[in-house]
Amino acid sequence: MKAMGPIPPDFRASPGGWLELGGLAFDSFTDGRSTPAFAYDWSVVRRRVEQFRVAMPPQVSLHYAVKANPWTPILQGMAELVDGFDLASSGELQRVGEALPDFRRHFPLSFAGPGKHDEELRAGLERQITFQVESAGELERLLRLGGGSGVTPRVAVRVNPPFGLKGSGMKMGGLASPFGVDHDEVPALVQRTVDAGADWRGLHVYAGSQSLSAEAVSDMQRATVALAAEIAEAVGITPPEVNLGGGFGTPYFAGDQPLDVEAVGAALKDTLDARPAMLRETKFIIELGRWLVGECGVYLTRVVDRKVSRGKTFLVVDGGLHHMLAASGNFGQLLRRNYPVAVAHRFGAEPEEEVTIVGCLCTPLDLLADEVMLPCAEVGDVIAIFCAGAYGLTASPQAFLSQGAAREVLV
Ligand SMILES: Cc1ncc(COP(=O)(O)O)c(C=O)c1O
Repeated sequence: MKAMGPIPPDFRASPGGWLELGGLAFDSFTDGRSTPAFAYDWSVVRRRVEQFRVAMPPQVSLHYAVKANPWTPILQGMAELVDGFDLASSGELQRVGEALPDFRRHFPLSFAGPGKHDEELRAGLERQITFQVESAGELERLLRLGGGSGVTPRVAVRVNPPFGLKGSGMKMGGLASPFGVDHDEVPALVQRTVDAGADWRGLHVYAGSQSLSAEAVSDMQRATVALAAEIAEAVGITPPEVNLGGGFGTPYFAGDQPLDVEAVGAALKDTLDARPAMLRETKFIIELGRWLVGECGVYLTRVVDRKVSRGKTFLVVDGGLHHMLAASGNFGQLLRRNYPVAVAHRFGAEPEEEVTIVGCLCTPLDLLADEVMLPCAEVGDVIAIFCAGAYGLTASPQAFLSQGAAREVLV
């Protein structure tokens, strides 16, 4: 038997034993042919945003990292809850524009990511978004394109800091990196931005993702504020904004404990209270993806076959890694571990048997849960895989083996 991750505390069983989503028993919003599907429980997102607002000092804004889940209803709901969106491509800019056609022009949009091509820069200039420039070359292209179209570019410099997010699964600082400009070269680039007449919006430091350690996140934020002050001193100009990055993690696996967001907020308050005078007027931003939407999502997939091979029981389901790559362990994990899973109509029932859940793709990689203990599930029953709200469908190879699409529903 192998362990699985913790089911997010937001989910309950209906009186009939069904998994409840958005206050409804699972069977009341779906029909017999409706899998595979992602169901997103919006009350979970609301709760996370409220928790953030209560925990963080008031001068900290919250941006949503669209890459975590760019589905239209998520963007529409999120626009009501957060202070801005962080984009990673002009495709995401287009999705935001389509989801929110009467989008207020001044809703902050920022665009980080290496390899922004000219068309993307043009599209962003047109919408007056803030570019987090990742290199001197990118800045020069942006200035040229801005000059050509008569638009003043809004520029924040993304810094490759001399530190990373300790213990993070995805460290993005303290090393040679395609992301951002090495910190010692940043003052010159800021000066160039200002001299060229661009609108310098400030600094962006993204040192890593997926941390469950309040200490590590707080250390990173403290170091980021100190670095921003150092750069501001060097250029002699106060940055209007400093984006502190994110890094708030989701407990996916056995033994994971939720990030203590209240402790992060208390430490950040101390850091900001003690910030150098150079940053007194600066606005601070935290940008989050998975912590906001990861736990709201449940991937629902139906058992199409049940078989025993050499003593091992397999449940073969109608979904797979083409929708939910991360649960198969192939989205950046070093060691494959089990996401939290349940049998949807017997939620919270005692486990009865050890099963291995595999998707319908013809590859041994399509392993969704390995040797987990669950209540018995038969052909036709639905398996729920949790923590599917971020980097689920959007981070999966949907075209692989030409299997069908998954539905998405907001509940
Ligand atoms: C620049 C940037 N912002 C935000 C995120 C969102 O990270 P997460 O979903 O872990 O909060 C990432 C993730 O890679 C990123 O690279």
